[in-house]
Parts: sequence; C-alpha cells; structure tokens
Amino acid sequence: MVKIGNIELPDFPLLLAPMEDVSDPPFRRLCKAHGADLMYSEFISSEGLIRDAIKSRMKLDIFDYERPVGIQIFGGDEEAMAMSAKIVETVQPDLLDINFGCPVKKVVCKGAGAGVLKDVDLMVRLTKAVVKSTSLPVTVKTRLGWDENSINIDEVAERLQDVGIQALTVHGRTRAQMYKGHSDWSHIARVKNNPRIHIPIFGNGDIDSPEKALEYKHKYGLDGIMIGRAAIGYPWIFNEIKHYFATGEHLPVPTIKDRVEAARNHLLWSMEWKGERLGIVEMRRHYTNYFKGIPNFKEYKTRLVTTDGRDDLLQVFEDITEAFTGLVI
Ligand SMILES: Cc1cc2nc3c(=O)[nH]c(=O)nc-3n(C[C@H](O)[C@H](O)[C@H](O)COP(=O)(O)O)c2cc1C
Repeated sequence: MVKIGNIELPDFPLLLAPMEDVSDPPFRRLCKAHGADLMYSEFISSEGLIRDAIKSRMKLDIFDYERPVGIQIFGGDEEAMAMSAKIVETVQPDLLDINFGCPVKKVVCKGAGAGVLKDVDLMVRLTKAVVKSTSLPVTVKTRLGWDENSINIDEVAERLQDVGIQALTVHGRTRAQMYKGHSDWSHIARVKNNPRIHIPIFGNGDIDSPEKALEYKHKYGLDGIMIGRAAIGYPWIFNEIKHYFATGEHLPVPTIKDRVEAARNHLLWSMEWKGERLGIVEMRRHYTNYFKGIPNFKEYKTRLVTTDGRDDLLQVFEDITEAFTGLVI
C-alpha cells in the first residue's frame, strides 16, 4: 500500500496526470471507471482563483465518486498561492498538488510552473506558503531541472520534503526539452533511492503500454506511475496495465462498441457538466482519439465535429457502431 497523508492507495498505483483541457470531471469519470487510482484536476491559476475567474472556479468541481482526487494549482507569488490553497480547501479535495513542471512560456515567464526550477529558493518558499495555509496533504509535480546542464531534482526533492510535501511526481524531462526527446527515469530512480527521501515518488513520462509500465516498474523501483497522453482517448490503459501486472497477459483490445460507448459517455457527461452547447463543442477535439486507426472514418469524423444537436450526435454514434462493428484496430 502507498500512503499520501491519510490517503491509502493500492500498491504501485496508477495516477491520471493533470492535463489542461483534458482532465476535467467527465474525462476523470471515464478514467476512474477504467482503473485510475488517483486523479488530478487540470492546473488552476492561483491568480485566476483569487480573481474569481469563472474558468478557474469551474476547475474546482470535484465529485465523490472520483475520490481520491487532487486539485492542482500554479503560480509564482507566495501570497496568491497561499490564498488559493485556502480557496481549494473549501471544496475538500483529497490533496492539493503544486505544478512546478509546466514548460509553457506564459507560465514560466511569471516564475511559475517549471520556471521555478531555476530558483529553488523561490520554489521552497512557494511550497512552504501553501503547506502552511492548508490542512490538506500537499504534493508536487515537477521536471528533472531547467535543462540538461542543470538537473537539480535531487536537491529539489530533499528541500520540498523538508518543508512538508507528502509525495512527489517527476516528469523525466527538463523544461528545455518541453515534450521532445525521451523521458529519462534514471534521475527519478536516484531520488527514490536517496536514503533521506521517505515520501512516495511517482514517475511520469512516456508510459504508453503495459509492457513499458512493467519494464519501468521493475527497472526504476518507484512507488507508482502517472499516465497522461496515453490515456487521452484510451482510458483502457489503466486496467490494461493492471491486468498485465497481475497475469502477464493482455486484456482484449477495446472493440468498436467499447470505443463508441466511451466517446458517447464522455459526451453525455460533458453535456451534463458544461451544459449541452459547450459540452458538444468542447467534445469535438476528443473524437479522433477514440477512433484512431479506423480506416475510412473521415465521413463519420466530419459528422461528429459538425453535428449540433444531442439526438443527431447520438445517431452518428449508432451509425459508427453499425458501420464498423467487428473491426479490430
Ligand atoms: C494536453 C496536455 C495538458 C497538460 N496539462 C498539464 C497540467 O495542467 N498540469 C501538469 O502538471 N502537467 C500537464 N501536462 C503534462 C502531463 O501531466 C505529463 O506530465 C506529460 O504529458 C508527460 O506524461 P505522459 O508522457 O504520460 O503524457 C499536460 C500535458 C498535456 C499533453
């Protein structure tokens, strides 16, 4: 068993990564149904939370069936981070995660996200401010360092643990890598093997198959793994990995019916949460992911992304099932 504060997770838990415009409640519900053990919200701007921006507030929505669930915040100002930690506490997530890994320029420029990897003192002050202002367990997600010449995750892990974080997830890339190259987990394993480190250490980056998950589990000896992109349009990845760990065998791949059902539920839950219009429009960017690899799908894709009404969309799903049932992709 892995413990974060009072949260009890199974051995070697599989975490769903926080992903902006992806890990919202409808998507989390789908991942939970398919085996994710711990999930995070999209990142939320601390400045936005304090200004009471609608977009930031909406990201605070969590539901009991998805527990344990964490809310992730980012920002470069201690006071704003402390205040937003208090706001987050009002919705009672199971934990609060700080994002020190976002490589995007507009975030980094403000000394937030991966920007603080260049200023570990600031990173420690921001973390301390958050830990002090909330009774929730605080966790951090970050990268190896700013660039390959300044990998400082060993120091970062020790200093953040010293100010009270209760778990650390490391994406095995530097900020300079953005999403290029490959994720190097050997640095994460070194953190885990540091005798001073006693909090759970989770590895993240490029896990996209049960084989790779098992290989990395054995090779790096971490406490669990976090999965991001491989779950987009493919929530089955969690149970597939668990089944492979338990039996050494693969679950059958999802059928067309399974894919339609997942996309359909994603749509229905999005409409439920965001309202029909917004739910339909925002779902459009997800469809290709559910139906990747189906030959001659263009006509159906066009219909999925141009159809406006709920019932008409549900008809498109029926037509997809009818046209492609039996196809194995
Ligand atoms: C679309 C997208 C949005 C992301 N948004 C966030 C975010 O809000 N917070 C965060 O910590 N990381 C974010 N990330 C990074 C992921 O959490 C994860 O660290 C990264 O994708 C590497 O893991 P993977 O190879 O399993 O995808 C995002 C990644 C993607 C692809």
